[in-house]
Amino acid sequence: MREINVALIGEGFMGRTHSNAWSQVTKFFKPSVLPVMHTSCGRRQGHPKIFSNHWGWTHASTNWEHTVRLPEIDLVDIVTPNFMHAPVAMAAIEAGKNVSCEKPIAGTLAEARAMVEAAEQARVQTFVWYNYRRCPAVALAHKLVKDSALGTIRHVRAFYLQDWADESIPLVWRFQKEGAGSGAHGDLNAHIIDMTRFVTGEEITEISGAVAETFIKQRKKMTGTAAGGIAAGVHAGESTGPVTVDDTLLFLARFSGGAVASFEAARQATGNQNRNGFELNGTKGSLKFDFERMNELQYYDATRPRAVQGWTTIMCTHGGDHPYAEHWWPDAHTLGYEHGFINQAYDILQVLGGHEPTVPLPDFHDAYQTQRVLEAALVSAAEHRPVALSEVR
Ligand SMILES: NC(=O)c1ccc[n+]([C@@H]2O[C@H](COP(=O)([O-])OP(=O)(O)OC[C@H]3O[C@@H](n4cnc5c(N)ncnc54)[C@H](O)[C@@H]3O)[C@@H](O)[C@H]2O)c1
Repeated sequence: MREINVALIGEGFMGRTHSNAWSQVTKFFKPSVLPVMHTSCGRRQGHPKIFSNHWGWTHASTNWEHTVRLPEIDLVDIVTPNFMHAPVAMAAIEAGKNVSCEKPIAGTLAEARAMVEAAEQARVQTFVWYNYRRCPAVALAHKLVKDSALGTIRHVRAFYLQDWADESIPLVWRFQKEGAGSGAHGDLNAHIIDMTRFVTGEEITEISGAVAETFIKQRKKMTGTAAGGIAAGVHAGESTGPVTVDDTLLFLARFSGGAVASFEAARQATGNQNRNGFELNGTKGSLKFDFERMNELQYYDATRPRAVQGWTTIMCTHGGDHPYAEHWWPDAHTLGYEHGFINQAYDILQVLGGHEPTVPLPDFHDAYQTQRVLEAALVSAAEHRPVALSEVR
């Protein structure tokens, strides 16, 4: 069977989730091509093999420029901070590699556009890790909407609320415009823009009423480099520096099918740790999803007799009926965060092998549409005005 040599660039939080996915995928799925964990690349100059040995990568590197050009590499998997997505992706594309990149596709719209154009010219295959599409409950919502279970969608409410960013967290790249592009917006709204585009099958046509706020304007600078990423423990020094991105950004929107929508991203929404989800109200029914109860999808079928209408909690773990479930455990032996990534690794391998993914997989072009929405909301927040997506190219 054909093998795909993968190079992972970045060894932080996402470095771990992706390494886990590449190492687990063939234990649960039978993809049409097999991944080989060839090289992982990070910044541990003195100890380059700590991560690769732990996660099962054959080789280790601290030089991404060299790694992405290795002739034996087929797929470059980018899990670095946002500002590095474009340079790594462009170098990999130039070397003729397929690329899978963490979200958002880039820190800026211009970088994202350059990545799309380069990939299209080089005719390489691209993928973006909008992993929440691959929760069985979200994939089921996509299928229900496609099968017209909701009728015409009138309202979309999307939220991604976290609460980790208090004063104790130092000035890591996520709080710096040059590192991240934006704050909670590009980090969290990116996911729910993608998720709602995916589930509704519609595009966002206009943004209005965007408001952004940075509550904590100065943070302690880090000492040393966070070679293992934020999760590996970074240390706050004594001096402080300015936070140059939002802590929260909210906006209103219109969808191409006529629905009106609200989006909320926040990093200081106390009590909400990773609460991302959506509510859709249609003429024939409604859906609700909340990642903190990720195995469940709430469905209201308004075509049933009024006497028995009510919310149904669907446990999305039934093999054969629920996307991806047949590859995992018996009914209600529930899935977790890592399964979305393993499901995505499978779909990437299927596409590389010339097959269809289980549900649509975002490529650079698709992720660029999400980036345009992010950009439109930034303009709306800065200029206090509605922004048509047709203005944002
Ligand atoms: N899909 C998701 O749900 C999700 C969740 C978290 C993060 N992300 C995305 O993943 C990406 C990485 O985020 P993270 O949380 O893993 O960050 P992180 O800070 O934990 O890790 C970043 C890694 O990049 C490495 N790096 C930085 N500069 C490098 C260089 N020059 N050469 C080699 N390695 C370098 C760091 O050493 C670190 O290992 C970001 O784009 C982020 O938006 C996605």
